[in-house]
Amino acid sequence: MLSKEELKQPSILFVSKNKNKFIEASYILSSFNIKLEWAPYSKLEIQSSSLTDIASFAAKNAFESIKKPLIVEDDGLFIKVLKGFPGPFSSYVYSTIGLNGILKLMEGVDDRECFFESAVAFCDQNINKVFVGRVYGEISRVIKGSYGFGFDPIFIPKGENLTFAEMPLNYKCSISHRAVALRDFAKWFLKNFKYYL
Ligand code: IMP
Repeated sequence: MLSKEELKQPSILFVSKNKNKFIEASYILSSFNIKLEWAPYSKLEIQSSSLTDIASFAAKNAFESIKKPLIVEDDGLFIKVLKGFPGPFSSYVYSTIGLNGILKLMEGVDDRECFFESAVAFCDQNINKVFVGRVYGEISRVIKGSYGFGFDPIFIPKGENLTFAEMPLNYKCSISHRAVALRDFAKWFLKNFKYYL
């Protein structure tokens, strides 16, 4: 059970260095009337092949120092022909070989199937629960678009012709991995913590 103090908590902290993620998460949760507050700290990242474990551990660790109900999100881009690479190493791969490096690895490859996964971990003093969302798609042949961040310019969601980076935020946020995970979280949260907000 949440204490009276916590029932008064005006919003949930979103712990991430990445402001773009916070903006998208806030947008997605606003339609559920759930407010997020940005806590611009790095999350602690354990080595694991499971985004769920990474997010869950990071959320628990953040809660131990911040002591307020919070969300941590961990994401990964999984490319089928590369056996799921970069997956949990997506952040490192983005900052090392980058988009051009991925396109180079995919040169001459026709099977461009991949998916984005988001693991959203909510943690308070009683609960540490993870919600997972996926969006399937393919790696584009060229870098396209200027919206968004990260791998957006090379990810084309299934059934679309445009990359995430060619879509306005509201459209990306209606179909993204982040939206799937956060909508699940929101439904659970509103059912279980009605008086929280
Ligand atoms: P992390 O969870 O912040 O470590 O994300 C792993 C990598 O995926 C980082 O390079 C992010 O920029 C990237 N990433 C996370 N979410 C998205 C997204 O919605 N679009 C594109 N790239 C993303």
